[in-house]
Amino acid sequence: MLILGIETSCDETSAAILKGKKILSNIIFSQIEKHKIFGGVVPEIAAREHLNQIPFVVDECIKDANIKLNQIDGIAVTYGPGLAGSLIVGLSYGKAMAFALKKKFIGINHLEAHLLSPFIEYDDFDFPFIGLVVSGGHTNVYIAEEFGKYKIIGSTRDDAAGEAFDKIAKLLGLSYPGGPSISKAAKEGNPKKIVFPQAQMKDKSFDFSFSGIKTSVLYFLKENEDKIKSGEITIQDIAAAFQKAAIRSIVNKIKRIYKKYKIKNIAITGGVAANGYLKEEISLFAKEKKLNVFIPSTILCTDNGAMVAYVGYLYMKQNKFSQWNLDIVPELKL
Ligand code: KG4
Ligand code: ZN
Repeated sequence: MLILGIETSCDETSAAILKGKKILSNIIFSQIEKHKIFGGVVPEIAAREHLNQIPFVVDECIKDANIKLNQIDGIAVTYGPGLAGSLIVGLSYGKAMAFALKKKFIGINHLEAHLLSPFIEYDDFDFPFIGLVVSGGHTNVYIAEEFGKYKIIGSTRDDAAGEAFDKIAKLLGLSYPGGPSISKAAKEGNPKKIVFPQAQMKDKSFDFSFSGIKTSVLYFLKENEDKIKSGEITIQDIAAAFQKAAIRSIVNKIKRIYKKYKIKNIAITGGVAANGYLKEEISLFAKEKKLNVFIPSTILCTDNGAMVAYVGYLYMKQNKFSQWNLDIVPELKL
């Protein structure tokens, strides 16, 4: 079965061809350069840029897969959650293509695509699993019992994890997106010089909060201007201390969730799952408890068409398709 997957929910225009779960091509056009000067994604620019890029990205993905357009069996497209203008471009394009080519059409929830993305690369990955989706827009934890059966047990009460990295990077004068620039800076800093508090939920929930760490960094910068100017404390030190606090709060949450649910398979997906320190910390815990941790390779962590095509493939196998009147749902939940 050949599936075309299209993803345009935020600032990556991406299209992929999967044969079953095998990736034949996965083209990702990142708009980062267009948004960098604004320190974040500008929705209007993102939508226009998707419109400019999508024909080329789809053409290239067909060419790269070395197939003919009419060989495709179905087209899977993200219809939410995400930026409205961005989602409309991908959904309209995919729907029109499917209609014109008389192919099956399936709308995909972006969160389900992230959540199930480890299946593409890991043959030993299976349900049930504890699944974390940590990206620029989301910080959700699920108990995934089987395909289509997910229970959300925690989410963020304020900023998403990636959003916190992006905002702190801006405060520190580091470039957008903040995740990669903070982890790069952190490598040259001393994480022990400063201790930022980790968020503690007053109740026993598995929810996340990053606003406290963000405020601590903000006050720290204000109160330590002299030490930063003199070089006694560097931006790299602050980046390292922030990364440590933010990542440890995620890892500690996973530890607590494991303690309650005792599920051995843990999947960490979404842009923040590309963080090296997170990988180190979680693998220490995994070793101690003999758990199996599944983190996709970076290309499948950040937004991409392959993860969308993969979920499309699962639905196609069950003969489940979408109606032509399917519309975007920017606030779509999973
Ligand atoms: O999944 P993604 O590409 O897009 C969304 O669906 O949001 O995630 C992008 C987010 C950005 O906020 C970016 O700063 C963060 O993932 N990110 C990272 C790293 N690489 C990307 N955060 C922490 N460490 C990284 N290495
Ligand atoms: Zn995403």
